[in-house]
Amino acid sequence: MAPAQNSGFTVWLTGLSGAGKTTIGHAVAVELERRGLHVEVLDGDVVRTHLSKGLGFSHEDRDTNIERIGWVASRLTRHGAAVVVAAISPYDTTRKRVRALVEEQGPFVEVWVKAPLEECARRDVKGLYAKAFAGEITQFTGVDDPYEEPDDAEVVADTVALSPDESVALVMAELERLGIVPVATPASAPR
Ligand code: ADX
Repeated sequence: MAPAQNSGFTVWLTGLSGAGKTTIGHAVAVELERRGLHVEVLDGDVVRTHLSKGLGFSHEDRDTNIERIGWVASRLTRHGAAVVVAAISPYDTTRKRVRALVEEQGPFVEVWVKAPLEECARRDVKGLYAKAFAGEITQFTGVDDPYEEPDDAEVVADTVALSPDESVALVMAELERLGIVPVATPASAPR
């Protein structure tokens, strides 16, 4: 049974590698902490060094990775945490499965961190797109593995049109609109 005063929730950021999930996710986490919430960030790159160590990028391994993250997010949500997930989570049915799992415990707010493949490849922060286009890495999302665009995201943050601060503001506004976090007072508003 969930605790009586459960106010936990999960913000799930999905999008291509290099779209800006980690940047926006960490900034959202800072803002949630500033509002006094207990926050946990589950970033795909980090989870893959611990909980999902050894998993690759086949459909099956990605599903395992996302379902593990979803399971942890649901447990944390159950105990009142504000959970911020940043993972490509490319497959629609898998995202819907983790949404259902988390929603047994609290709200699930999906944020599509949206940037076209060409822009992510141009940014190529980790140099992985160059390798994927050269065929040195295979099954790379957006290159030779699909990214299924969400049709049910609560927020779409277009990181070409918006600055990181503007994307964070969009996410926070949605959390406020849904009544998940209190509306910021001037003292707690971003400086
Ligand atoms: S997911 O598909 O299972 O959700 P996850 O978010 O955990 O992916 O990890 C993605 C990160 O792994 C990317 O940001 C990138 O740094 C790295 N990576 C390495 N190989 C691949 C690949 N084939 N496809 C996508 N990302 C890859």
